[in-house]
Amino acid sequence: MSETGRHNTVSENLPSEHGAHAGGAVVKPDPFANPGLPPHEHRRQDIDDKAARHSERVVAGLFTLSMLGTTGFIACFVVFPVDKIVYVWPFGHVSALNFSLGLTLAVALFSIGAGAVHWARTLMSDEEVADERHRVDADDELRENVRQQWITGAKESGFGRRKLIRTTMFGALTLFPLTAVVILRDLGPLPEDKLQHTLWAKGKVLINSNTDQPLRPEDVVVGSLTFAQPQGLEESADDFQQQIAKAALMIVRLKPEDIKDRRERDWGHEGIVAFSKICTHVGCPISLYEQQTHHVLCPCHQSTFDLSDGARVLFGPAGHPLPQLRISVNGEGNLIALGDFEAPVGPAFWER
Ligand code: FES
Repeated sequence: MSETGRHNTVSENLPSEHGAHAGGAVVKPDPFANPGLPPHEHRRQDIDDKAARHSERVVAGLFTLSMLGTTGFIACFVVFPVDKIVYVWPFGHVSALNFSLGLTLAVALFSIGAGAVHWARTLMSDEEVADERHRVDADDELRENVRQQWITGAKESGFGRRKLIRTTMFGALTLFPLTAVVILRDLGPLPEDKLQHTLWAKGKVLINSNTDQPLRPEDVVVGSLTFAQPQGLEESADDFQQQIAKAALMIVRLKPEDIKDRRERDWGHEGIVAFSKICTHVGCPISLYEQQTHHVLCPCHQSTFDLSDGARVLFGPAGHPLPQLRISVNGEGNLIALGDFEAPVGPAFWER
């Protein structure tokens, strides 16, 4: 039984003070009755051709503005250098590149949206339609009905007739995806050969990262893990983060007889060996050392390297061993590098 039907039955049983009597039965107005559609009010554009043409020009103008925004976005990307700073009221000093890219992208996107909304509000059909509830599965008749509605909708939107809107809209939508090309291209320059060179060079003293003092062989005991950085790397330097990220070292001391890889032994000093601290998977800093097995574990994705066997990968997604730094001792008894790493530090995928 429908809600309305049930309601009427209940109403019939109510005492007379709750409703009017009709032939002895209580009759109550149905609170859920369909109020029907309000009378349709025509917009100016529906009855005035001039107003319709004006709206058409506004929509086309907005789509054209979007095209200009997209073109401006690409032009700004090409024209403004990354480090150019300009004063823009009320934001103060801002990056010219970021500001112009943000502004032109906003114009391009907003204009497409505003054009579509204006088109729908002023030119597309605004006839109110009441749709009855129906079964979820559509029969053939309903499908045909929907198809006809689509056709009518397309006709009423003027998509086929209003060539100017259609052309400018296609232009705006075709041009806009170009912004993605610029954004993707701007994700950052490829590192090229920058990962192949670090601050390590022949004679550079190893500085203990905790004490800031030159590292001496007697400071490194068997079973310990020490971190080091090249001498002369100042925290105040502009590129400190970049340089330390590439040059960070892990120093361990093994019993010489425990070192399986002959080259590793030769590149160390009395069992002290130095490896890059940067994981060769995607570059996390490694810091978990298991002194019994001489394994180091990267905390990010559990790549495990064997420091007694050339830092070979034992487990995990890392593609190649940690690069080793050749070390020795200078006349003052400090540990020094004998050159740069023998392989690029960090993730391997840049080489592929
Ligand atoms: S970054 Fe080290 S395992 Fe992924």
